[in-house]
Amino acid sequence: MPASSVPLFRLVYHSQATHLLRPAALTALLEKARAHNQGQWLTGLLLYAENQFMQVLEGPEPALTALYAKIKVDPRHREVQTLHFAPVERRAFPDWRMGFARPSPEKFRQATGFLNLAATPGLAAHPPRELWEQLREFAQSEQVSR
Ligand SMILES: Cc1cc2nc3c(=O)[nH]c(=O)nc-3n(C[C@H](O)[C@H](O)[C@H](O)COP(=O)(O)O)c2cc1C
Repeated sequence: MPASSVPLFRLVYHSQATHLLRPAALTALLEKARAHNQGQWLTGLLLYAENQFMQVLEGPEPALTALYAKIKVDPRHREVQTLHFAPVERRAFPDWRMGFARPSPEKFRQATGFLNLAATPGLAAHPPRELWEQLREFAQSEQVSR
């Protein structure tokens, strides 16, 4: 199957950092993540604020599931809460092996506030549209490193 016709999935999760991550630790995390993601055709956006993470990951389902299994047991964070996992037609963040940004606490709280709207904690078939709009708007307006 040509790469362009592989079914794409999107995952969104939220987690709590276990400790404050210093810039060097974040850089190390991102460097490794980007190298891995590039090889697996995975893309996305990672937000870090208020000692919390929110990550959007997009790519082929097997690679996505395999990576998420590792991410879930990563000791750098806990309380990993899946907000959304579903097939998508196209990527929202196609150019980023893993975009990274540190939003202001206010903006991050706004985005995570929508988590409460998810129908079932753990898996919402449809993420709140507001969350998605917020993420996209955020990604476009903030300085995102890639
Ligand atoms: C918040 C967070 C986001 C992460 N995102 C990615 C990612 O996008 N890609 C990736 O390969 N690893 C990511 N990791 C790292 C993985 O959890 C794991 O350390 C990595 O896949 C290396 O696994 P390995 O030691 O088995 O090679 C992330 C870790 C954390 C804490």
